[in-house]
Amino acid sequence: MSDLYGPNLATVRAMSRDEVESVQLSRLKETVQHVYQNSPVYRDLFSQAGVHPDDLVSLSDIAKFPFTTKQTLREHYPFGMFAVPRDQISRIHASSGTTGKPTVVGYTAEDISHWANCTARSIEAAGGRAGDRVHVAYGYGLFTGGLGAHYGAERLGCTVIPMSGGQTEKQVQLLQDFEPDIIMVTPSYMLNIADEMERQGVDPAELKLRIGIFGAEPWTDAMRKAIEARCHIDATDIYGLSEVMGPGVAQEFVDTKDGPTIWEDHFLPEIIDPDTGEVLPDGEEGELVFTSLTKRAFPVIRYRTRDLTKLLPGTGCKMRRMAKITGRSDDMLIIRGVNVFPSQIEEQLLSLKHLAPHYQIEVSRSGNLDNVVVHVEPGEGVHADEGAQTGQQLQHLIKTHIGISAKVKVHGNGGVPRSDGKAKRVVDHRK
Ligand code: DLL
Repeated sequence: MSDLYGPNLATVRAMSRDEVESVQLSRLKETVQHVYQNSPVYRDLFSQAGVHPDDLVSLSDIAKFPFTTKQTLREHYPFGMFAVPRDQISRIHASSGTTGKPTVVGYTAEDISHWANCTARSIEAAGGRAGDRVHVAYGYGLFTGGLGAHYGAERLGCTVIPMSGGQTEKQVQLLQDFEPDIIMVTPSYMLNIADEMERQGVDPAELKLRIGIFGAEPWTDAMRKAIEARCHIDATDIYGLSEVMGPGVAQEFVDTKDGPTIWEDHFLPEIIDPDTGEVLPDGEEGELVFTSLTKRAFPVIRYRTRDLTKLLPGTGCKMRRMAKITGRSDDMLIIRGVNVFPSQIEEQLLSLKHLAPHYQIEVSRSGNLDNVVVHVEPGEGVHADEGAQTGQQLQHLIKTHIGISAKVKVHGNGGVPRSDGKAKRVVDHRK
């Protein structure tokens, strides 16, 4: 049993579905008992909902238990959700969130070790091996991206280059000089790095880089193709969130690239109808909910991620996959009554070869009318006239495929704001 905690992907691949579920059930029972005994917050939530750990007999009994949300965590800021004594907390992370106080999470030394194993396993599924050099360009600090990737790469036996985000010129220099095999970074920042290579006259095909492990923000398959073509690498998707652990909750296999596989021995996923809270069957789209199965310091029971996706059968192993995330429920824009995700606009934009894959969507209201402006840039070597013409085309595609009237504004190169971490895709002046 103990090597299930280990990073060895071969062990995971060898597990049958029954084995996966039996590990889940025993760990779920332990987790529910642990929070009941050690977290006053969960004990209260359980008693308000009229449930007790003994009510959990099979995996589906989890549906009897109450949800937790970002709001639950906020109410107990900063350390009220911790379920171990303070002296057992060996690390704290926090996610900034858009408003107010950050969400704070904590880990015991053993939690950190499980996390390293999950991320190591993720790098292995992405095609990484012991001995590979891994350039980590996720931000280090309170954000889980940098340190999460770092510990996983070390655990797998890789050499880590802890570059962090920013200093784009230096990123390019290190990619050339240190010859990493793998880069871990947000997909949008990878494109900024590619632009910088172009500016410096560096040909990405000449780099040793062979794999990208991209996540922390939604990105489409069209974006994957654009990155792969431009950077000459395999681009794989890594998913995670600080409340549930950090990067490495789920990872795509490089040989299938068909959506991240959830490491189900550590996390129990459910999909619910976001309006009613009802559990939906596999294959139906809804909100992703996680219960952690091995965490001690900051266990989560039925945490509502607000990420929209569906659960699919495993292809790389018997653990289930999630479809690429279409967006977060909070990112959904309602434009004159039509629901729109930034990813839908991204898809249309990337179908036009004269436009660069950078964009930002600006929404405002005049009177009762919503106005949308999509800010874009011409692609490399594209003449301004051609760029402007393609802007018109994008406007038309958005109207016909998404059903909203948007104005497309084509800027000069570098005119769309860049970030060295998660891209800010939407500026909504209506809020
Ligand atoms: O972004 C953890 C992470 C770091 C994941 C590095 C992957 C790589 P948070 O800052 O708490 O944690 O943000 C979590 O980011 O709920 C999703 O909305 C979004 N997200 C993360 N990975 C993906 C992905 C980190 N692969 C929030 N695709 C999540 C789409 C993603 N969205």
